[in-house]
Order: sequence, then structure tokens, then C-alpha cells
Amino acid sequence: MLHTIQEIVKNCEALLISAGAGMGVDSGLPDFRGNEGFWRAYPPLAKLGISFSQMANPEWFAKDPSLAWAFYGHRLELYRNTTPHKGFHIIRNLAKSKNDNYFIFTSNVDGQFQKAGFDEERIYEIHGSIHYLQCLHNCTDEIWPNKEDVEVDMKRFRAVRYPHCKYCGQVARPNILMFNDWGWNPKRATKQEQRYNKWLKANRNKKIAIIEIGAGTAIPTVRLEGERLAAKLPKATLIRINPREPQMDENLGYALAMGGLEGIEAITKNSL
Ligand SMILES: NC(=O)c1ccc[n+]([C@@H]2O[C@H](COP(=O)([O-])OP(=O)(O)OC[C@H]3O[C@@H](n4cnc5c(N)ncnc54)[C@H](O)[C@@H]3O)[C@@H](O)[C@H]2O)c1
Ligand SMILES: [Zn+2]
Repeated sequence: MLHTIQEIVKNCEALLISAGAGMGVDSGLPDFRGNEGFWRAYPPLAKLGISFSQMANPEWFAKDPSLAWAFYGHRLELYRNTTPHKGFHIIRNLAKSKNDNYFIFTSNVDGQFQKAGFDEERIYEIHGSIHYLQCLHNCTDEIWPNKEDVEVDMKRFRAVRYPHCKYCGQVARPNILMFNDWGWNPKRATKQEQRYNKWLKANRNKKIAIIEIGAGTAIPTVRLEGERLAAKLPKATLIRINPREPQMDENLGYALAMGGLEGIEAITKNSL
């Protein structure tokens, strides 16, 4: 099976890289798989009994901005200080070998693909990005890069200092789609989506290898997108890399129960 996958990767004309939190695990980032996974990454929230879906909720920015920004500020620093693992660079080189005919579709908000040198114009961040800010109250529809240092006291799990809206002075929030989020500004993601749809349209009849890495089942948007395209497009094949949740319909492609870096190395062996 591995040989078949290697041939598909080698012979494809276009690459769709779809990624969930598992893509960052080999760079040392946590995934949030289940409450155990989330609380292992955030012991202070385990103590408070707050789950990921409860924490990733915009109401905290109004109710308790210092707690909200402890969570997002800590993640911001973590992602800023992370170096993307070798798998990102292997994919970058694979994309070069396809004349840069690629697109990234990711639910990650961590900006690691940009950091690894992928083109901002070829990335669709479906849940937004932690590196951008918007006004909590939408006094403006502007989205601006977050250049601020958010200081977090990890012992108390409180942000000492956090960003405010440049226009009205009220609390600013990351431009990330959260749960029960009616205030998310989708402007930036919508522009990315338009470029993504244009790319898909231009490549719909080409041999597309959809390489999915570390996308979980709890919020299955990334998995469903790859499955949808593999079912619909005539020459698209889904290659799923996931050590713990590799299950998939075998008519759509192939699954490897491997970690991200290991899987990427395995499938690109004949291509680079
Ligand atoms: N880095 C980030 O930006 C980040 C991190 C956590 C959560 N989130 C957000 O939370 C939601 C989480 O959904 P999700 O499905 O991305 O994450 P998830 O935490 O639900 O699932 C992670 C998946 O990665 C797999 N995995 C674990 N170790 C791996 C490895 N070494 N290599 C490859 N895969 C590995 C797991 O089996 C699992 O299927 C998303 O909406 C996302 O926006 C983002
Ligand atoms: Zn404002």
C-alpha cells in the first residue's frame, strides 16, 4: 500500500494539504484531543473544570478578559516560539516539485504553515488565525496583525496585559472562530476561501493528492472536506495520516496510522 501511495504522490499534478492540530504535534505542540488531551496541555483549566469548548468561547472576553487572554495569550506565545518540524519543509519541497501548484486547508490557527515558508495566498485558515485581532464589539470590520506581547501569569492563569481595539479602546480578541461565536469577523477567511475555490476550480480535473495530516474526529471539518473532494473530483485521492484516528472509507483513498513527520517522510520517499 505504501508503494501505491508513494506513486500517487510522485505522479500527482496538484497538492492539497489539509491539516488539523496533529500536524503540530511533532513540532512539540499539543493537540486538544478529548478533555484529557486539553487538560494535559492546560492544568489550570483542569482545576477549574473548564473544557476546550467552554474555554474557546467569546463570552469570556466580555465576562473575564484576563482569563480569556491567559488562554489565547499563552497559545500565541507558544506558537510564536515554535519551529515547524521537518515535515513542513518536506511538503514545501514537494510543492516546489509540482511548480507550486498547491493549497493548504487547515483548521489550525497557529500560523505554522506561513512560518515554514508557504505562500499566504495559498492558505485557507478555516477557523481564522491567532496572529490577527479584531474588535470584540465589531466597532470596525478591520482585522489587524497582532504585534503585541500578551503577558500571562501562568500560576494564576491571568493575562497581566492584553490587546485592546485600536478604534474604540475596548477589548480586542483573536480573529479565531470559537464556539457559539456570533461575533467572529470572517472577512480574512472569506478572502482565503475565494482563492481556495478558484484554485479548486482550476485543478478539478487534475490528479490531486489530498494529503491530510492530524485532523481529528471531534470537529471533523478538515476530514469532511478531503472526503468530499475525493468523492466528487474525478482524479483526487485522499491520503490520511493520523496515528490514532486513521479510519476512513477505503474507496476514497488510503490511510496511514503514523505520526505526521513519519508519514510525510514515508509517502514522499520516491518524490524528492
Ligand atoms: N495548533 C492549532 O492551531 C490548534 C491546536 C489545537 C486545537 N485547535 C483548534 O481546535 C480544533 C481541534 O480540531 P483538530 O481536529 O485539529 O484537533 P484534535 O486535537 O481534535 O485532533 C488532533 C488529531 O491529531 C492526531 N495526532 C496526534 N498526534 C499526532 C501526530 N504526531 N501526528 C499527526 N497526527 C497526530 C490525533 O489522532 C487527532 O486525530 C480545531 O477547530 C482547531 O481550530 C487548533
Ligand atoms: Zn472597537
